[in-house]
Amino acid sequence: MLVPTFLLLSVLGLLSQTSAQAVDAWHLDTMYTLITQRLDPIINPNGVSSHVHRILGGSNFGANYNYPLYDGSSCSSAAVQADNSNYWMPQLFWRENGKFTPLKAGTRFYYFLARNKPNEPVKAFPPGLRIVIGNPNAKNSASTGIPVPAQGFICLKDHFSSPTGDRAGPDFNFATDCPQGLTTTIKFPPCWDGKNLYKPDGSHMAYTDNLQYGSCPVSHPIRLPAIMLEYVWQTYKLRPGVALKDHLVWANGDTTGYGLHADFVNGWDTDVLNAALTSPDCVGKGEMTMTACTVLAQHMNNAAALACKPSRGVLETIEDGVALDALPGCNIPWSSGTKPTCSPPVTNPTLPSSLMGQDGSVTYTGSEYPIPSLADYPANKWSRMGCIGGQASLLNSIQYTDSALTPARCQAYCWEWGMPYSGLISGSYCQCGTGIHPGAFAWPDAHCPQKCSGAAGSTCGGNGKLELFYNPSSTTVHHPGIADPQYIGCRRDGTGGRVLSASYISYGPMTIEWCKNYCTAQKQTLAGLEFGHVCMCGNSFANGGGVPQPQEYCALACEGNTKQICGGPAATVSIYNISLAGGGGSSSGGTSVITSTKSSTSAPVGSGGVTITKTVTVTAACTAGRKKRSLRAFDFLH
Ligand SMILES: *[C@@H]1O[C@H](CO)[C@@H](O)[C@H](O)[C@H]1NC(C)=O
Repeated sequence: MLVPTFLLLSVLGLLSQTSAQAVDAWHLDTMYTLITQRLDPIINPNGVSSHVHRILGGSNFGANYNYPLYDGSSCSSAAVQADNSNYWMPQLFWRENGKFTPLKAGTRFYYFLARNKPNEPVKAFPPGLRIVIGNPNAKNSASTGIPVPAQGFICLKDHFSSPTGDRAGPDFNFATDCPQGLTTTIKFPPCWDGKNLYKPDGSHMAYTDNLQYGSCPVSHPIRLPAIMLEYVWQTYKLRPGVALKDHLVWANGDTTGYGLHADFVNGWDTDVLNAALTSPDCVGKGEMTMTACTVLAQHMNNAAALACKPSRGVLETIEDGVALDALPGCNIPWSSGTKPTCSPPVTNPTLPSSLMGQDGSVTYTGSEYPIPSLADYPANKWSRMGCIGGQASLLNSIQYTDSALTPARCQAYCWEWGMPYSGLISGSYCQCGTGIHPGAFAWPDAHCPQKCSGAAGSTCGGNGKLELFYNPSSTTVHHPGIADPQYIGCRRDGTGGRVLSASYISYGPMTIEWCKNYCTAQKQTLAGLEFGHVCMCGNSFANGGGVPQPQEYCALACEGNTKQICGGPAATVSIYNISLAGGGGSSSGGTSVITSTKSSTSAPVGSGGVTITKTVTVTAACTAGRKKRSLRAFDFLH
């Protein structure tokens, strides 16, 4: 069954197109099928699976899974006997004249060991880890639930003389025959959240920003080997010369190929795998077979792998090459729409009790995978968390451009707004937020090299990368005006005009106290500030305005006092109720001067207005799922 090694090279060649540099990768080429039957201890614990899987690995495979049981297997169908994990895909059948014939397959797995920086560890799979990927009901690449390149279908056309003659397809319906077989591959996500050993939605694992190379998400910081499972189906032996199209069906009835899915349950000897993952003999050497790693070579036994049989009994016997009248279970071939049901219902075989047992915990409780906890960060101090990219924005973020940016200035700004995350981008942008976006990835520090616009000796992030600082104590808004007891919030203007309509003035050196005094003189009780220099008064909200807005929508410095806020740039107004006690219009309590929030002001000729150029990115803090709203480089004349 061995797939010739020259096949391997071309497959790696295909892969390396997605990776700029040679990465560490192991492959195990001597691996056999343990059994083909309707079991899936992850999806159907202590039950019969809905369809047949072709299962590889440790002999203690059964209808339940727990790590000590699987780790204790007496043998593995993988040549490396320290790996008692199980790996499986659905069985592939050849269909012709109403019959279904299980295809034989050669099997192999790869572990990609890419890392972000030389000292980043790739760790052994945690005991108890289970991973399921793919969607058995998918009928197109968009519905597989995994990134498109995670599934691979390669028709080995002319591999022996010219591997470049191989054809990759979006699915398994090749219009030709595949004289050296049909390869189906699937790539597992390598980034783990450090807590959950299994979640039905798969969210305990994540792909890197580049499928299997590149960076892990900040939310999934533990890097594990990135498994790629590969089966080479021997279509050419069963029906030489016949085109595959319309002849293949996965065990669950899928005739498109997109229903390819795969599972992994960990049964590794953790000490052996960790020793290999840290041995200079086995990592840092690019692509290699597992047998070239001396730590693993000590555990190789090809004869044991070949002889390995399930030790807890079998549910049923499905033999390669023996045609069946129907796919086992209720699996009528279907190519679109809802999966067909069976009438009368199909009866499952009886599950032997020897295949049942206890399932392991789905929560990791050990201490081998420490994750820095936010609780570990010191109070009243900004600590550097690293360089993040991908969806690098922070949650509920506000951002401004600063021509004199330093980490300290940005941190002071975020402190004023009561936000614990402070991020520096491209040397001259400061972003504050309440959390890290779940789609953010951790990047090597080298990706945050930009000199700060205000301090050439410091770095302030990178191009699209955020240099992130965290201060757990920065959760209270300190900005003057917001702490003022007369302040009643950021409100929206009316659709038909200003939110306060009794009087209005545009005054260059506007401050909060100036506007309050103006409105008091106008015998009005509400004072509103907008555009940095506009004051409006009234006794009640007008024009349908007054709807509360997220505080971040009012973030413009007052032109007469840059420590104060005078509303927002677009229909958002800072409102004060001067009939409430305790105002006084004081600006005390300001902690820093944010002169750079306004990068340019100029008076257009003849308009008497002011042009404000500023970048503010805001997300509604109080509206879950609200779309991020970007206000960029707006010019207002008023
Ligand atoms: C302003 O304060 C007064 C006195 O407490 C109150 O009666 C009035 O409703 C307030 N107005 C607004 C718009 O909050």
